[in-house]
Amino acid sequence: MKRTAHVASAPAKVILFGEHFVVYGTPALLAAINRRTTAKARIRDDDKIIIKSDIGASAEYTKTGFKILQGGRKAKAILDPIHDAIRRARGEHRQSTGLQVELKSDIPYGIGLGSSAASCVASIAAVDSLFDSHGKNWICDRAMESERIIHKNSSGADCHVSTYGGIMQYSKDEGSKKIKAGKQLRLVVSSTGILHSTGSLVERVRKFREANQRKFVGLSEQADMICAKALQAIELGNIETLGLLMTENQQLLKQIGVSHSKAEALITLSLQAGALGAKITGAGGGGAVIALARSRKDSANIATSTRKQGYETIEVQIDCEGLVLGS
Ligand code: MEV
Repeated sequence: MKRTAHVASAPAKVILFGEHFVVYGTPALLAAINRRTTAKARIRDDDKIIIKSDIGASAEYTKTGFKILQGGRKAKAILDPIHDAIRRARGEHRQSTGLQVELKSDIPYGIGLGSSAASCVASIAAVDSLFDSHGKNWICDRAMESERIIHKNSSGADCHVSTYGGIMQYSKDEGSKKIKAGKQLRLVVSSTGILHSTGSLVERVRKFREANQRKFVGLSEQADMICAKALQAIELGNIETLGLLMTENQQLLKQIGVSHSKAEALITLSLQAGALGAKITGAGGGGAVIALARSRKDSANIATSTRKQGYETIEVQIDCEGLVLGS
């Protein structure tokens, strides 16, 4: 046992292209963004695992059960994967000591920006480094397993981008590959204000796919093609093309039933304010919309215009670091 307390932080993400289709094997393009969850882990004298999150959810887990300390029933769905992550990291070090993990986050929760993945990645890393440090691949693999306790069919994309950072292509078969952008991506993220459950939306798409098998194959092929063109556009810095591809990707998401009238309104608003393209990001069903801006001025215009209509909007930058360990 090396230290008594340790800190790790992991970033939020946006899915630029390919959400949902990535669950069935096609690649997605993602970017980590400059919003983070920080986990501080410390050893306790008893055998309890206590998790406190500043989003208003806290719980105490013992060998025989759990007690919600803050946040009611909703807190359990938020904290269970984090608890699993902490137990997993502790167990693999063959330890049974009690642990306390405190989470602080500036990632908006429940709108598709990967707050759950960032919490799992940061918690595993903080606990891991209390005993020894296994490195990013080990942490990412465990975080993916913990995420799957609430969202069984998770592709693993969110944990990859939160661990490694930057812009990446991810597929279930090939894992992640970093992408070097030819030009800075200026993204504006707006919230519809409608919280979603990734698990239920993935389930909705599973049912759609089951009922529309041939159509889904066609849509997946289109998603695959859009991703390939988008990858080239990112590398070449061709942001006009990238914007058009984002709006094209949105049409596919609409067809599989994960868009929402508020998301459509936000997309229209962003395009009218000068965005080169816009789409939902992540699971959809409300959640968040991303818009691509040509310049800093355009980005500010888009943000002003959506805020004027009452939406919460942030202008974001790409996070290149991913998971960061610090004591
Ligand atoms: C959620 O951020 C992205 C989805 O594609 C689900 C997944 O990849 O596991 C909707």
